[in-house]
Amino acid sequence: MDEVSIADVLAEVAVLVKPHFGKGQPADYIPQLARVPRSKFGMAVRTVSGQEAVIGDADEGFSVQSITKVFSLGLALNRFGDEVWTRVGKEPSGTPFNHLSQLEAEEGVPRNPFINAGAMAISDLLLDSVRDPAALVRGFASFLADEQVEIDETVAASELATAHQNRAIAHLMRGKGTISHDPEAVVAAYCRQCALTMSCRQLARAMLPLAAGGFSPLVQETIFPERLTRRLNALLLTCGIYDSVGSFAYRVGLPAKSGVGGGIVAVVPGKATIAVWSPELDRFGTSVVGTVALERFSQLTNCSVL
Ligand code: DON
Repeated sequence: MDEVSIADVLAEVAVLVKPHFGKGQPADYIPQLARVPRSKFGMAVRTVSGQEAVIGDADEGFSVQSITKVFSLGLALNRFGDEVWTRVGKEPSGTPFNHLSQLEAEEGVPRNPFINAGAMAISDLLLDSVRDPAALVRGFASFLADEQVEIDETVAASELATAHQNRAIAHLMRGKGTISHDPEAVVAAYCRQCALTMSCRQLARAMLPLAAGGFSPLVQETIFPERLTRRLNALLLTCGIYDSVGSFAYRVGLPAKSGVGGGIVAVVPGKATIAVWSPELDRFGTSVVGTVALERFSQLTNCSVL
């Protein structure tokens, strides 16, 4: 992938996605997210060798939501190692990201760290060592992006005010003993973390260690051990897109994480990271246009890992 050809591919992708606007709905259960214009589209690619290409609204910040679960999981694994796996599983859930009855049936142990229950279990674990896990995640994302990124407190408050399902999940886990902190504090930390604002360019930069064996070519530091990096990518490939992860792998063929702000980050191990943003979502909470964009990019560059 050279710089000129990546820019050409992005220009082609931007044309190919056009017929797919208007097919999804922006997240409206977080009132503040429903206000974002549906026509937004940005995409950024960053290679491990330092090339970068962007198109559209790639420098506009948006609410990255569940994409932050990659940062918090990475932090937790670096800090607590395999203890993480005593709190959450590593299996795809086959259920929506905020599902409740599977969690109850499975004694409050979340299937994986990317569904809401799993991410809140990670917030609970981080609360063992820091007072403000959202600030920790923000700091980590800023370090990785090599640029200060911020939490949108309006989005955080908007989600917290309507976070009834997440409260149910946190209280269920507290009742079952799988989290140990006050469920209200866990939900608050989780909602603030999700309200991180980043652009496609910043996301592509921040996720680069996942494409580079754990090393950040940007900040010139090892972020994750190589084996852990492979494992994070395995979790992304199998659990990163919730209950549509199979069809996403079929179409795109890359480890990836979605967020209800309409962002998707994908990893091409050994080569590059790709971030895309378009707010209209399918019924699984994944960007419709973002998925098409990644599918086309993967086809045009033949970069599927499968
Ligand atoms: O907890 C929630 O519902 C949101 N803060 C995050 C969900 C999300 O991004 C799911 N991803 N597609």
